[in-house]
Amino acid sequence: MDKFVVHKSSLKGEFVVSGAKNASLPIMAATLLTDDECILHNIPDVSDVRTMVRILENLGKVVQWTPGTMRIRSRRLRNYVAPYRLVRTMRASFCVLGPLLAKRKKAKVSLPGGCVIGSRPVDLHLKGLSQLGAELIVENGYCVGSAAGLAGTHIFLGGHFGSSVLGTANVLMAATLAAGETLIEYSACEPEIVDLGVFLKKMGADITGEGTPLIRVNGKRQLHGAEHTVISDRIEAGTLIAASLATRSALTIKNIYPLHITSVLECARRMGAVLRLKRNSLSIKPPRRLHPVNITTLPFPGFPTDLQAQFMVALCLADGVSLITEKIFPDRFMHVAELQRMGARISRSGPYAIIEGTRSMYGAEVMASDLRASAALVIAGMVAHGDTEILRIYHLDRGYGRLEEKLKPLGAKIKREKQ
Ligand code: EPU
Repeated sequence: MDKFVVHKSSLKGEFVVSGAKNASLPIMAATLLTDDECILHNIPDVSDVRTMVRILENLGKVVQWTPGTMRIRSRRLRNYVAPYRLVRTMRASFCVLGPLLAKRKKAKVSLPGGCVIGSRPVDLHLKGLSQLGAELIVENGYCVGSAAGLAGTHIFLGGHFGSSVLGTANVLMAATLAAGETLIEYSACEPEIVDLGVFLKKMGADITGEGTPLIRVNGKRQLHGAEHTVISDRIEAGTLIAASLATRSALTIKNIYPLHITSVLECARRMGAVLRLKRNSLSIKPPRRLHPVNITTLPFPGFPTDLQAQFMVALCLADGVSLITEKIFPDRFMHVAELQRMGARISRSGPYAIIEGTRSMYGAEVMASDLRASAALVIAGMVAHGDTEILRIYHLDRGYGRLEEKLKPLGAKIKREKQ
């Protein structure tokens, strides 16, 4: 197991954002909808992608991955089981369920189980797929299903916390091979769903409305192979914006889609940053004193829950009191206790965190609890006086490809060591 040792750093220069993990994973799952070869570009080299490769290989796909390009072909083996040993390490594995049911008519996919960022049920996935005609039962920790013939219908996919990103992905993928028309109402509008829609259309699917709360799908008898370049990672971009604010470092962030991060840019401006956008590049100049702001995480185009922890670090150093309200995963606050150990002044009550800005934080030994919390601790380490040791950095590696190697040329003092 690796750990990071981080020293106070100030950053300068250009950072190029990688492909989006959360777009890549469902798109890779979508290749199960065809036996033809699919070619994907811009897939990030992160451990969650490697897990998805293992799941696809287990399901009979042959995956060739050279830097930049992934080719996915089919073998004769047509397994339909995604086992617990793979699924438990990554909840996104559950989105092979829809494509398996639609294409192979059978699926046995482990339920993902608990998660450190809070309760993460899959009831909406199961509801949508059942309404399309799949027969699903949950037994011995697995969702076991069959689908003699899926048929399009009108599905309301809203839940207690609004839309579901992977729930929408699962139902959308299954609907592409269902007979007739499917309407998915209260579908997630995230850019990753739009990118999945674009890929499915390249495979021959008939879809309209992706990126809105009402997606319409006209089912096809079969889909074919396709080639696609995955969008860039808005969460990696936002992480760099948070790092720039917290460390008060002027940066240029390249390969971004500004429309994917409008709420984040708005937040950075309210904190006092001066932003210059030029096509797919952002120059950010943080203020000397950060303004406190209130942030509420919401489904897209609202402020993303996946940037809550990173922005919390910047707010720990603002001139005043900020309030964060977590509306997607109300328990996603594992980083609070670690930041407190570094001198942050945060009090938490239910889905609220009140952050009282302080002038400085100090290094400590801290524990990464999940992917985005780890990124927050890296940022905190770069602003803290003294050494910060971040244990269990494998969480970070799930979604950021060798982040320390991308930050070092900017001036970050980070070392990866054996724990
Ligand atoms: N929910 C339900 N029932 C369901 C599914 C979800 O009640 O069947 C609830 C969840 O408990 C949550 C809300 O709906 O309160 C939204 O969850 P969603 O289903 O949208 O989350 P997800 O699709 O499982 C994806 C990302 C997460 C990101 C969330 C929210 C991927 C692989 N994962 O998860 O990313 O936080 O959407 O935007 O796309 C990360 O990258 O670190 C990460 C956790």
